[in-house]
Amino acid sequence: MPSTASTSLSSDAVVSVRNLSKTYAGGFQALKNINLDIRRGEIFALLGPNGAGKTTLISIICGMANASEGTVVADGFDTVRDYRAARSLIGLVPQELHTDSFETVWATVNFSRGLFGKAPDPAYIEKVLKDLSLWDKKDNKIMALSGGMKRRVLIAKALSHEPKVLFLDEPSAGVDVELRHDMWRMVRKLREAGTTIILTTHYIEEAEDMADRIGVIRKGELILVQDKHTLMRQLGQKQLVLTLQQPLASLPSALATWSLALSADRQTLTYTFDAQKDDTGIAQLLAALSAEDIHFKDLQSSESSLEDIFVSLVHEKTADEMDKKKQEPKNERRVAA
Ligand SMILES: Nc1ncnc2c1ncn2[C@@H]1O[C@H](COP(=O)(O)OP(=O)(O)OP(=O)(O)O)[C@@H](O)[C@H]1O
Ligand SMILES: [Mg+2]
Repeated sequence: MPSTASTSLSSDAVVSVRNLSKTYAGGFQALKNINLDIRRGEIFALLGPNGAGKTTLISIICGMANASEGTVVADGFDTVRDYRAARSLIGLVPQELHTDSFETVWATVNFSRGLFGKAPDPAYIEKVLKDLSLWDKKDNKIMALSGGMKRRVLIAKALSHEPKVLFLDEPSAGVDVELRHDMWRMVRKLREAGTTIILTTHYIEEAEDMADRIGVIRKGELILVQDKHTLMRQLGQKQLVLTLQQPLASLPSALATWSLALSADRQTLTYTFDAQKDDTGIAQLLAALSAEDIHFKDLQSSESSLEDIFVSLVHEKTADEMDKKKQEPKNERRVAA
């Protein structure tokens, strides 16, 4: 079953999601039988288009919404039965900003820590605020901060009780380059200190850059969970780009069977091939080009990015299609993309 992603289930999970489904009051099924283990200490990126179910999944794991079916266990604690114990392990930076308060940054963040039953630790809170470049705003009222600064406060609140697992739901939405960089620096530091990080993002290069594993959710189904490098290797197709010596009016019919694309300016030919195959066809292609008297002055190869993979996964494959595709010969999986 594609939605179970069973190959990823492991015993050293800090969060275990089992058979989780969610149907909202109006009858809309937002999550369908999700099974997922988050490994201790990893950075896990959850990708999926708008409305796929990412926030719903995170809200249930964090105990902010109820599942219709299934269970979530965080470090041994069931998030429903042992809510307080489970919740105290988790920090959540929500997608939506609800931070218009008359309180100061300092009071708000310290109060958050107290909510989780932790003893005050001004030195720790000071460090968090400094890491987030919020220290000089500590006496400002939240309502007097800019949107990006409010997001920093949300992050500070989520970190205030020293969670073992940190969820960041679209942390980069609407923030400037500097905050993104600060944030990713901080995420890396947290990971080095042993914190597990789960993030959702629409910036695929972020997932590509940061994540150890990637999950893709589509219409409430977890259609894929994979180590990032394995994913890119398995699904990645390579492209060979040939810069021609002379513009080519059109592709000769003798080359019609090759997976070739001629650029609009007719100066480059792009050959797409499966990097997994023993025989990439490059040697034969170059011979065929030569036979057609087509010569090139430069040749470059590139691997498909995670973005290419993501787009093809999300837009082309329903779960049923994926099942069907699995039965097809491997080298045909992506050629048509
Ligand atoms: N309170 C609710 N009541 C009914 N339907 C809801 C509710 N919250 C979310 N949904 C629906 O559930 C689906 C999943 O929403 P969710 O917010 O989890 O998506 P998402 O993957 O986080 O999307 P985005 O990338 O836009 O943040 C959507 O179709 C949404 O309309
Ligand atoms: Mg969301």
